[in-house]
Amino acid sequence: MRIVIIGATSAIAYHIAREFAGVEHASYFLVGRNAERLDTIAADLRAHGSPQCVTHAGDFRDSAMASAFPAQAVAALGGALDLILIAHGSLSDEARASTDLAYADSEIDNNYSSAVRFASAAANQLREQKSGQLAVVTSVAGERGRASNAFYGATKAALIAFCSGLRARLARDGVQLTELRPGVIATPMTAHLPRGLLTCSVEQAGRLCARAIRRRKDLAYIPGFWRWIMFVIRALPEFVFKKLSF
Ligand SMILES: NC(=O)c1ccc[n+]([C@@H]2O[C@H](COP(=O)([O-])OP(=O)(O)OC[C@H]3O[C@@H](n4cnc5c(N)ncnc54)[C@H](OP(=O)(O)O)[C@@H]3O)[C@@H](O)[C@H]2O)c1
Repeated sequence: MRIVIIGATSAIAYHIAREFAGVEHASYFLVGRNAERLDTIAADLRAHGSPQCVTHAGDFRDSAMASAFPAQAVAALGGALDLILIAHGSLSDEARASTDLAYADSEIDNNYSSAVRFASAAANQLREQKSGQLAVVTSVAGERGRASNAFYGATKAALIAFCSGLRARLARDGVQLTELRPGVIATPMTAHLPRGLLTCSVEQAGRLCARAIRRRKDLAYIPGFWRWIMFVIRALPEFVFKKLSF
């Protein structure tokens, strides 16, 4: 099995990768911005059963990097790609984004535009192959804008809409798009937030994501109970919702 991970230093992505290294003995093309951290992850995946891990570091703002990665991955891994996982993202500082618009732009690019660039290049590769799977990590934050994360939530909402359209287009060529929609997972991204009853461990999140990918799901809430929480949140009338302090 040949797997490409965009944002391979993400804690969630790493735990998904470990699942496929141990069971399917997958080979990896790991893409990120930090070469040293990628090397560490590659060594770890080899120790967990992967026969081949190639790393590729670059600047995610560079659209040429997104265009080039599929051909580089095919050449490095020696054949058609089975899975491309897009996992990078950053939990935007809402207060800063409200006043520092250059920062807001960079967050929108990181969480939405760059994900779309990588997903588009991935989709072109998989359509040409007429096989394979694209998995994209979004967030429950994309389902309803909240006062505390309007910027981050909006980028994920746009990414969810993009995934829906892309899934329908890819289905015509036998390619599956699986959207992984986490709630709150204990990773470096959420380290500053209090851990509560709804917080899922990253190990559990990795297992649940891997299961959804193996089952070629269209959409998986991670963990599944978020489907029902978001059902209620979406149903709240606006005059109630805007009074909630979260
Ligand atoms: N944790 C949660 O509760 C939660 C909930 C819902 C959705 N998600 C989503 O899950 C995905 C993975 O997040 P995580 O929880 O695993 O967090 P994480 O461990 O902090 O990983 C974030 C990843 O994004 C990369 N990244 C951030 N900014 C980047 C930039 N400007 N250019 C290139 N790469 C960048 C990081 O690279 P470096 O290692 O180089 O920093 C890292 O690989 C994200 O899309 C996130 O939005 C997370």
